[in-house]
Amino acid sequence: MLDFARCLVLCALVGSVCAACPSRCECSEAAQTVKCVSKELRSIPTGIPGYTRNLFVTGNQISRIGPESFIGLENVTTLSLSNNRISEVESQTFSRLRSLRFLDLSNNQLAVIHPEAFTIQNQSLRELNLSRALYNHSSVTDLATSLRWKNTIFSPISYQPIPIEFYHTQDSGRV
Ligand SMILES: *[C@@H]1O[C@H](CO)[C@@H](O)[C@H](O)[C@H]1NC(C)=O
Ligand SMILES: *[C@@H]1O[C@H](CO)[C@@H](O)[C@H](O)[C@H]1NC(C)=O
Ligand SMILES: *[C@@H]1O[C@H](CO)[C@@H](O)[C@H](O)[C@H]1NC(C)=O
Ligand SMILES: *[C@@H]1O[C@H](CO)[C@@H](O)[C@H](O)[C@H]1NC(C)=O
Repeated sequence: MLDFARCLVLCALVGSVCAACPSRCECSEAAQTVKCVSKELRSIPTGIPGYTRNLFVTGNQISRIGPESFIGLENVTTLSLSNNRISEVESQTFSRLRSLRFLDLSNNQLAVIHPEAFTIQNQSLRELNLSRALYNHSSVTDLATSLRWKNTIFSPISYQPIPIEFYHTQDSGRV
């Protein structure tokens, strides 16, 4: 609220358009980067600027993500959601992120992954980090299903085996 008031005052003084930034985030237009790190956020903040190419919402308490989490973020190429408590990835969660290339979901607790979780029209994803992201063996089955679904964000050329480490065990494996 204080930031908003300050912004209004600045706008009035300078007469320029204030670039908005969600209250618990740091935004750099020059670097096209937004960081919302360790702020105890429970959901992806709204109002992330459209210029954002690198988005870090890490070390928070986000437990689910869905298509409504990422609106107006067509320019995001790198998205890190590591170190949250994400247990569910809903259908079409990333479908609006048409430029997404690097997705980091490491250190989460993915238990439910919808078959169309990773579906997008523009198959732009190059790297998906699932280190210590999968909760149990059910999530591996879900993940395998979602990666076989049509229009999955991987282009076939870049598809490679993904090293897996479970969140709550030291097991590792490949899908
Ligand atoms: C994405 O970037 C392009 C080129 O920099 C810009 O024209 C466009 O407005 C941006 N999209 C949004 C939603 O701001
Ligand atoms: C598809 O993704 C690429 C990046 O891999 C991007 O340059 C291009 O603009 C995207 N196309 C659309 C229609 O968004
Ligand atoms: C994947 O995430 C883990 C944990 O955050 C990190 O240590 C590792 O370097 C990442 N791997 C790649 C290829 O970025
Ligand atoms: C994995 O965890 C989910 C959520 O707690 C549970 O519904 C499912 O039965 C578990 N699957 C296995 C194989 O333990």
